Amino acid sequence: MLSSRRRFLAGFAALSVAPALPHRARASQVRHLQLAPASQQIAPEGYPETNLWCVNGSMPGETLRLPQGDRLRVEVENQLPQPTSLHWHGIRLDNAMDGVPGVTQPPIQPGERFTYDFALPDAGTYWYHSHAQSVEQVERGLQGALIVAETDAPDVDQDLPLVIDDMRVTAEAQVDDTFTAPHDLSHAGRLGNVLLVNGSLHAAQPVRRGDRLRLRLINSANARIFALGLQGLEGWIMAYDGMPLASPRALSDRIVLAPAQRVDLFCDVTAPDGEDAFLLQFEQDGGYEMVRFPVSSGSSARRAAPPPLAPNPDFPISLSSARRVDLRMQGGAMAWLESADFEGEARDGRDLAQRGQFWALNSTVGRPIDPLLTAALGETVRIRMINDTQFPHAMHLHGMHFSEVHSDGRLGPLRDTLLMLRGETREIAFQAHNPGDWLLHCHMLSHHAAGMGTWVRVLA
Ligand code: C2O
Ligand code: CU
Repeated sequence: MLSSRRRFLAGFAALSVAPALPHRARASQVRHLQLAPASQQIAPEGYPETNLWCVNGSMPGETLRLPQGDRLRVEVENQLPQPTSLHWHGIRLDNAMDGVPGVTQPPIQPGERFTYDFALPDAGTYWYHSHAQSVEQVERGLQGALIVAETDAPDVDQDLPLVIDDMRVTAEAQVDDTFTAPHDLSHAGRLGNVLLVNGSLHAAQPVRRGDRLRLRLINSANARIFALGLQGLEGWIMAYDGMPLASPRALSDRIVLAPAQRVDLFCDVTAPDGEDAFLLQFEQDGGYEMVRFPVSSGSSARRAAPPPLAPNPDFPISLSSARRVDLRMQGGAMAWLESADFEGEARDGRDLAQRGQFWALNSTVGRPIDPLLTAALGETVRIRMINDTQFPHAMHLHGMHFSEVHSDGRLGPLRDTLLMLRGETREIAFQAHNPGDWLLHCHMLSHHAAGMGTWVRVLA
């Protein structure tokens, strides 16, 4: 049996599965989310509580769970010392509700409120997080799961959102406040020194042998690419980034989850009564325990493979008549920018570095004045992304899901975030079905802060 080791702060106890709000909100109900500093015991006993920025007092914030087709109405109150916003990652929502300060709304100033109100067209696993100074605000804790339930939810014994994060803390168990250290900005991003699941270093969840679990894995980390595996659990990948696969895939390999990506698993507990099953993170030196599932007696009979989840509304792609554009990803350590445009002016790499800017898309650093492209409503868009950097990136499109276009013309599953390894060239396509201005950026938050973001416009 693979030993589970934990090299970080050792000896933590306690389980935390983020609490769910009552299942069905009345249509008129407006939830209130207060964003404010609060502390939480993350480190083991003997260490102080960690000062965080929380949603209604917890990190991650409460799991929002609503039925497909419902509306989410949320009044956000900012009690933080900085302007903020919330972004509803992966939801194909009304542009005005996308939560991007300076693009879809003014920032919510300290002491102010903003009400988000939008329809939930798609079932699946989504999440919410701050989209203001996110390299700091998401790290400090402003993140949570957003679950949109199928009308005919498939039967499982437990449905568990697992918000998987890493955090960089000091020896006093406080969030390290060097959020824009040039080395992090220009290399792999801010990596943490503690691994958390639902805010806990030692997440544990009792299960019975033979139980079928729905695990909703959400990578909320700033920059870490997780490589996850199961032990004592066998199952299927049901959905990526909220969107159901046409046919579930039996789990065999590691589950690679880039920042902001999600995966829905159905898995059956095969570990014997009295033992533990695990969700593990694989690092170069072995497997680390992320969630422990103590197993009690149940059934040893194996169940049939699950049928696929019901598809969400479809926006077909037409490759032959598509508008095409290239997106060249540039800069970072070992491929330093010589020069690029920033805030409308050409600047050299040294000048950009002094401004904390290290990455460019098509030779522009930071959000350009003009969009990468303007699409007519319903038009298919193909974006070929060329990673000319020495690092992986997690490219996220707001407002619409895309499919990867493989070299043989086959379309991959719908996603909202694509992991691009260094040197790779890959192409995505989507139907521009959702009008508005939508960001396309690297979800390694240090990279976005250091220039790696652009936007597309879909005409109404
Ligand atoms: Cu998860 Cu631009 O966001
Ligand atoms: Cu990146």
